[in-house]
Amino acid sequence: MTLHPVTVEFSPDSTPSLVSPTIMPSSLTGTPLKLGVLASGNGSNFEAVAQAIEAGKLNAQIQVLIYNNPEAKAAARAVNRGIPTVLLNHRDFQHREDLDQQIVQTLQQYEVEWVIMAGWMRLVTQVLIDAFPDQIINIHPSLLPSFRGVRAVEQALAVGVKITGCTVHLVCLEMDSGAILLQAAVPVLADDTPETLHARIQIQEHRILPPAITLAAQRTRGRPDAI
Ligand code: GRF
Repeated sequence: MTLHPVTVEFSPDSTPSLVSPTIMPSSLTGTPLKLGVLASGNGSNFEAVAQAIEAGKLNAQIQVLIYNNPEAKAAARAVNRGIPTVLLNHRDFQHREDLDQQIVQTLQQYEVEWVIMAGWMRLVTQVLIDAFPDQIINIHPSLLPSFRGVRAVEQALAVGVKITGCTVHLVCLEMDSGAILLQAAVPVLADDTPETLHARIQIQEHRILPPAITLAAQRTRGRPDAI
């Protein structure tokens, strides 16, 4: 039986959090991973990835940010960092496959190796999955397999769970269902609203997304410390 180490620590907002597997300093050497980030909204996870790269904690570079919503704040965050942005408004495409075809073309144009869905609010199709097999990563605000789909934080509150969290996983066709890379648990407090709970979950999202990208890449590159 293999025992996976886990870490319990007090995070910046003073609530204990459990992260598994333990986050190790990045040992990913060699050519930086070429990331393409897909985002629909605020982009705080995009920012977390960019900051981890700048801090030397993630051996990667963001080639392009693709966003589908003209209002997405993620776009301004990318522009501020000099990262190319491409708006692909889903309303301009008749079928999901058409949008994904354009996404694939754009990602290939920017020589993207890994696709990071950082708050990407569109269902993926086989078109995207076939172009980047096992190279698409998503972050979701629950401990999967609980609370798949939209409004995961609200779902957790409605059911009354006492612990929820976030999950970084590989993307497959079935929504929020691919292989899990890293999870962080977050306690639900008695007076939590969707906003307060989501804010606490997001602190953990920002912690686990960058190392989860490293873990996925290590697995692909066949390193001994891969999960
Ligand atoms: C996050 O909670 C993520 O888990 C979910 O969408 C949210 C995006 O937040 N998929 P942000 O845009 O990165 O701030």
